[in-house]
Amino acid sequence: MTDLDTALPQRRHLVTEIPGPRSRELHSRRTAAVASGVGSTLPVYVERAGGGVIVDVDGNSLIDLGSGIAVVNVGNSNPLVVDRVSEQVDRFTHTCFMVTPYEGYVAVCEELARLTPGDHAKKSALFNSGAEAVENAVKIARQATGRQAVVVFDHAYHGRTNLTMALTAKNMPYKHGFGPFAPEIYRVPMSYPYRDQPELTGAQAAARALALIESQVGAGNVAAVLIEPIQGEGGFVVPAEGFLPAISQWCREAGAVFIADEIQTGFCRTGDWFACDAEGVVPDLVTTAKGIAGGLPLAAVTGRAELMDAVHTGGLGGTYGGNPVACAAALASIETMREQDLVGAARAIGDTMLPRLRALQERTPSIGEVRGRGAMIAVELVRPGTTEPDAELAGRIARACHAEGVVVLTAGTFGNVLRFLPPLVIDQELLTEALDVVEAAFATHADSPV
Ligand SMILES: Cc1ncc(COP(=O)(O)O)c(C=O)c1O
Repeated sequence: MTDLDTALPQRRHLVTEIPGPRSRELHSRRTAAVASGVGSTLPVYVERAGGGVIVDVDGNSLIDLGSGIAVVNVGNSNPLVVDRVSEQVDRFTHTCFMVTPYEGYVAVCEELARLTPGDHAKKSALFNSGAEAVENAVKIARQATGRQAVVVFDHAYHGRTNLTMALTAKNMPYKHGFGPFAPEIYRVPMSYPYRDQPELTGAQAAARALALIESQVGAGNVAAVLIEPIQGEGGFVVPAEGFLPAISQWCREAGAVFIADEIQTGFCRTGDWFACDAEGVVPDLVTTAKGIAGGLPLAAVTGRAELMDAVHTGGLGGTYGGNPVACAAALASIETMREQDLVGAARAIGDTMLPRLRALQERTPSIGEVRGRGAMIAVELVRPGTTEPDAELAGRIARACHAEGVVVLTAGTFGNVLRFLPPLVIDQELLTEALDVVEAAFATHADSPV
């Protein structure tokens, strides 16, 4: 038993309605002080969190199936992360790597070289957020190729900064009213097996995208093709087998940089260290963030040494990029993933969730598809007998789960996808209980078979 287990009981336990009175009080303070553009899925205010639970200020213990959006893969306040962060805070909190460097930054880059796909020579640069990593990957690709065009996909999500808003597909809430957007971004269709009717193989879906790139952009103008190997905010869209290898092969032939955005899929989430590993795809550049540092803000671009070194000294960086405390957290998180076999844990989570959700789909006509890999699992909701998205039902099911003390998230271009991202250290029993709650929510809110 770890310290964490003794410190924070791993159970669902509700003592008030959700949100409770103290949360509601905090929420009214928040409404007065925090800009309304910043939303919250479930306004219970957090007191503590660890393993698979979040305890709120009213004393409710909720099961966490969100991991702070795929961040606390090693569990909240993971004991090793806490130890290493505390040690680092005690030694120094910041010098700026661009002024006086330190070992932790170098050690994180060494780990990234070992862990990311491919055994070629790799280098990394560290940043603060996923969006910042994506922006820098585009800067590197443009500098290295001397080209400008960046190709992205339908349903893509890459962030909320100006360049990454342009790279992100969905208008509301991410882009609406925030233009003008950065130029030289071209969007092509994603392989989305559930919605590609008639169904396309990976090779066919790739040919559809590549024909558009060649006719509308021109292979010789493409600096980079940027893709999430499994789309996150877009609804956990898993491309058909063969799609990613075909796109990556085309990039090699066209002299374009293939960038895998593994910000949501990385660090064991999908049952591999990185989602590209499942098909042996080796990207030229990989962006990472979220799960890398157990909840501290850290992001990276890792890639072929010759591409990474194409940028002049001083062309990459930022005041806080690769902050020493975040680097200590990353090294502890990576050690935990290795020692506790969180790749295996993610696979076990998928093995528990997928059969139960597929059985639920059999008896629930409003479930169009259950998909995902490892601990990145989604349920797409539609009007029975059609593929018409049902965002209203997704919202209702999510709210029903919240009311019963299970934190679930929604996603998707059409807002009709329930997504599950449990911490990889969640107890099997807790996971099973969370699935009971999800099933009960469907039993109450979704149509029964006709
Ligand atoms: C695939 C992907 N790319 C980029 C981002 C942006 O990361 P951040 O919110 O850290 O800027 C996200 C965040 O959800 C993401 O899922």
